Amino acid sequence: MDDIVKLVYDGKTYELPVIVGSEGERAIDITNLRADTGFITLDPGFANTGACQSSITYMDGEKGILRYRGIPVEELAEKSTFKETAYLLIHGRLPSEEELRNFSIMLNDNSLVHEDMKAFYQNYPRASHPMGILSSMVNALRSFYPALQISEEEINLTVTRLLAKVRTMAAMSYKISRGHTSVYPRPDLAYCENFLNMMFHTPVKPYRIKREMVRALEVFWILHADHEQNCSTSAVRMVGSARTNLYAAISAGMSALWGPLHGGANQAVIEMLTKIHEEGGNYQKFIERAKAKDDPFRMMGFGHRVYKTYDPRAKIMKQKCDELLGAINLEDPLLDIAKELEEAALKDPYFVDHNLYPNVDFYSGIILRAIGIPTNMFTVMFAIGRLPGWISQWKESMDDPQWRISRPRQVYTGPNLTHYIPVEDR
Ligand code: CMC
Repeated sequence: MDDIVKLVYDGKTYELPVIVGSEGERAIDITNLRADTGFITLDPGFANTGACQSSITYMDGEKGILRYRGIPVEELAEKSTFKETAYLLIHGRLPSEEELRNFSIMLNDNSLVHEDMKAFYQNYPRASHPMGILSSMVNALRSFYPALQISEEEINLTVTRLLAKVRTMAAMSYKISRGHTSVYPRPDLAYCENFLNMMFHTPVKPYRIKREMVRALEVFWILHADHEQNCSTSAVRMVGSARTNLYAAISAGMSALWGPLHGGANQAVIEMLTKIHEEGGNYQKFIERAKAKDDPFRMMGFGHRVYKTYDPRAKIMKQKCDELLGAINLEDPLLDIAKELEEAALKDPYFVDHNLYPNVDFYSGIILRAIGIPTNMFTVMFAIGRLPGWISQWKESMDDPQWRISRPRQVYTGPNLTHYIPVEDR
């Protein structure tokens, strides 16, 4: 097969090289298209545009495949921890025992947050959304830790600092929003346990860590750890392409994730299921609304730009819901509604024709509720999980020999040359 694509226009033939990825994915290299032909391409939403070459995450949306550094997400969800998965994504391979130990020590050593940052937290209006607080606090980290990111060692420190502190800051934002004293991280607790303890421990009611909840949280975070060039990751890469510092780039990613079409969907799903429950369980009404052309409502937790089959993460989430609720003896009416709604939707011709299946957010909120996480913290939980992915994508883009500042073009459709009219003549 030719490794070129021919573009024929106005009697001229232009040859465009074909790039093939390690899983056989093909791309037309248009790097010189404008210089050679005068054309640009138009691809709203970038549905057909590869913005980079990346060795971090592989997805096949038709087959429902997701792998981090080649390892299926199902294997990681069964056997790995979030900390180990974060190392895998950031460093490109699984750590040795000693590397994992050193990583844990670094995470512990960097887990405290500068005491002056508490003043920021305390002055936020009480009703602020935790995503807004967290994204601004991450940006503020640059002022508290202005180390240069030049040597490999400095970059590793910044990266570990971010992983350790964001977890602490997320728990702090919850505590402060409730008017409670924040809880410090403990050196004897692992990453997930520490987070749960910082969220739920109080001086009058010590938090009892339950193994099943810790494991469910590990799996939740592993499944969110990366998802190649999604909206928030593209934001991180784009902002980072201006050689902005890592904290600012991650803060931009968090702002993108906040949207209800992206990471904000996990909150929106629970709100939707709660509404269905409150209205007597009539999910069919919501299915009809999702189908109606003149109704902007969308079935939250359904559909995906890449997956045209069942999202492999949703499959694991659904299974984890059953496992966790069974293990802690909890009945959640929202789980029953979700399952019935899914069954009905998957039989509905609209959902079948549009390839609309549950995505990662459809069942994840039920797990978070069972752990005790309040609904407005759901997207923050997604953000903590996505952090290793954002960091590894940022790191990869910094080292990319093909790096250029991100600067898309446009097709201008505004007025042609027109002249200024003084206000008295308008
Ligand atoms: N409910 C009803 N119809 C839908 C939905 C939905 N959830 N998703 C897509 N469609 C329809 C849409 O109306 C359009 O129909 P038509 O072609 O007849 O006009 C068609 O499917 C294609 O939709 P699109 O908006 O062009 O698809 P997209 O790839 O741009 O959007 C999406 C992907 C995830 C934004 C969208 O499916 C959606 O809004 N889903 C609900 C929000 C959600 O659950 N988001 C979480 C995504 S997974 C977590 C993450 O990684 O962010």
